[in-house]
This record gives sequence, structure tokens and C-alpha cells, in this order.
Amino acid sequence: MPANPAPLRILQPDDWHLHLRDGASLAAVVGATARIFARAIVMPNLKPPVTTVAAARAYRDRIVAALPPDASFVPLMTLYLTETLAAAEIERARDSGFVHAIKYYPAGATTNSESGVTAIERAYPALEAMERAGVVLCVHGEVTDPDVDVFDRERVFIERHLSGVVARFPELRIVVEHLTTRDGVDFVRACGPHVAATLTPQHLLYSRNALFGGGFLRPHVYCLPVLKRETHRQALVAAATSGSPKFFLGTDSAPHARGAKENACGCAGCYSAPSALELYAEVFEGAGALDKLEGFASLHGPDFYRLPRNTGHVTLSRRDHVVPAELPFGDTTIVPLRAGETLRWQATLGSDPIFQPPPGN
Ligand code: DOR
Ligand code: ZN
Repeated sequence: MPANPAPLRILQPDDWHLHLRDGASLAAVVGATARIFARAIVMPNLKPPVTTVAAARAYRDRIVAALPPDASFVPLMTLYLTETLAAAEIERARDSGFVHAIKYYPAGATTNSESGVTAIERAYPALEAMERAGVVLCVHGEVTDPDVDVFDRERVFIERHLSGVVARFPELRIVVEHLTTRDGVDFVRACGPHVAATLTPQHLLYSRNALFGGGFLRPHVYCLPVLKRETHRQALVAAATSGSPKFFLGTDSAPHARGAKENACGCAGCYSAPSALELYAEVFEGAGALDKLEGFASLHGPDFYRLPRNTGHVTLSRRDHVVPAELPFGDTTIVPLRAGETLRWQATLGSDPIFQPPPGN
């Protein structure tokens, strides 16, 4: 048996793409992220969506109130881009100190995107105001045109829409969220330093084969953008582990109750928060690039968002443990990513590795 690798100590990471929901669901999930992550960019796709700074402030206060007693987690808030978002609201966002980005959902692309943008040109005045104010644009990069194959939606979005936005607003800082394709990686690499991307654990770990594993439909790995071919997954792993500051951690942890996933019309989203850092560590170890994990998880994100890096640390220790089959979720339950499976790494807050009994005990 090979000896366990030494515990890995990295600066405390942040999650640059997170869904926390609201009410009882929020209270059920926020602690999982706050266990390890110092901050997270919190998505605004509530019902109704968070479209004003006042609504973002109230949501932030509900998140803080739902935190476990000793947690020191800071939610970084976002607004939901609409075609009518006023320049004055964007300036208020910049001045707020707690709204850090505005999220662009193409209308109909995913969960609670009904109020999103029907044609990006209609939001150009808002993008211009964001470019001027220095507010980051987070993009869900998929076309919704029913004639486009679901596996091509990201590539076509880049060709039809995103390349035009980047050319028209050269100073606008853009995060292409949950990148899923080689085409997306190539695009982000070819852009200037104001264009970056987040990568999720599920897109780094799984190809689309996982959706049909063993001949069964697997709702808990169904998310949007949908998982892609293995060649795309390999391109994502290469990007994440390359050390490029353009790629950083964003889980897109998207909690849905078990019954909403195991359903004839199952919701999109993987609930990865309880094991997120451990899952990324597995990816980086598999690529022989654990030395690049800290940059991806803890440095590139704050640098892009122009926020200070964290000062605390987390420790990743090699310790087999089984992910719970399900977890409480309000008055129902939720199935975390990798439920019932054994993970090799375990993350703990602080510099000291968790206690590991000596071999033979
Ligand atoms: O799978 C997803 N779930 N993708 C998204 O873009 C949204 C998210 C959610 O909110 O459930
Ligand atoms: Zn998301």
C-alpha cells in the first residue's frame, strides 16, 4: 500500500458560484459551505429574483441569520440582470460594498430564469453601465434556441452572443460560469485578463456517460449546462490544473429536494457543498497537480474580483469517509453529490490535520 500523502495546507478558499435558496432550505445548506469556505458569490435566482440592492441586502441579512453560531462566512451578493436594470441601480450596487456581480441568465436557460434576458442586445445599456462602474458580469453561457442541440448550447452561445459582448465591452469584467466545453476553455484563454471562468466539481469529475451510468437515468448528476463528452471534461481538468489565473473554483452547488430531483420532470442542479473542496482535491490529485489547488481554490478568484485573499487556512487530509446517503432539507431531504460513496480527502478549517489513528489501531 502506498503511504498516505502528507496533509495539504492551503489558504482558505472561496466559492465563486453558489446557490443558497431561501427560508428553511437556506438554513439547511448554508452551514455546509461555511464549514470550509470564507466567502461565496451567492446567486440571485430566487423567486422572485434579486433585482435590487435593497433586496440583496435583505437576502444577505437572511443568509447571515441562518449561519451556524460560530461561522464567520461572508456572503458576496449578486443582482439578477434584467433588460430594465437601471444604471442608477448598478451604481448603487458598486457603492454598496456587498454586491459584487450581476448575473446574466438567458431567459428559459435554467432554474428560475424566466425573468432573464430574452435578447442580450436589450441589456446593452446595463452592460455599458456595468463596464463604466467596474461591476463584474457573471454569465450563464447557453443559448435557449430549441433548434440547437442541448450539448452545443455553450459553444453556440459563445459564437452568437458572448464573443460580441466581449468585443463591444472590452473593459467589462466577465466570469463565464460553470464552463463545460473545450470550446469554452479555448475562448476564455484567447480573451484578455478581464475574462475568466469558474469550473464545477461535477464537470471536472464526470462526462455525460455519468447521466446514464449502469443503464439508469441518474438525476443527481443532472445539472445545467448538462455534462459533456469526455474530451471536454479533460480540457476542463487541464484548464483548472494549469495554474492560469483565468480559472477558479465555483461549485454551482444547487440544492433541490430529493423529490424534485427524482421526478418525471427532475430539476437541474448538483448539491456539492458538503464535500466540495474534497471533490476538487480528488480532481487535482488525479491530474498530478495538487500543487495547483491553492491557486484555483483560494487565489485566482479574489484576485479577479479585486478582493483581498483570505488569511486563514484549511487542511486537506487523506482520510476515507463515506458521504451521507441523504441530508435534512427543511421538512424533506436532499441527496448530496457522491451520496453513499467513499471520498479519499477530508477538509478541515485551520492548519492542523485532523486526528488520524496510527495504522493497526
Ligand atoms: O444545474 C443548475 N442548477 N444550473 C443552473 O444554472 C441553475 C441551478 C439552480 O439554480 O438550480
Ligand atoms: Zn448556478
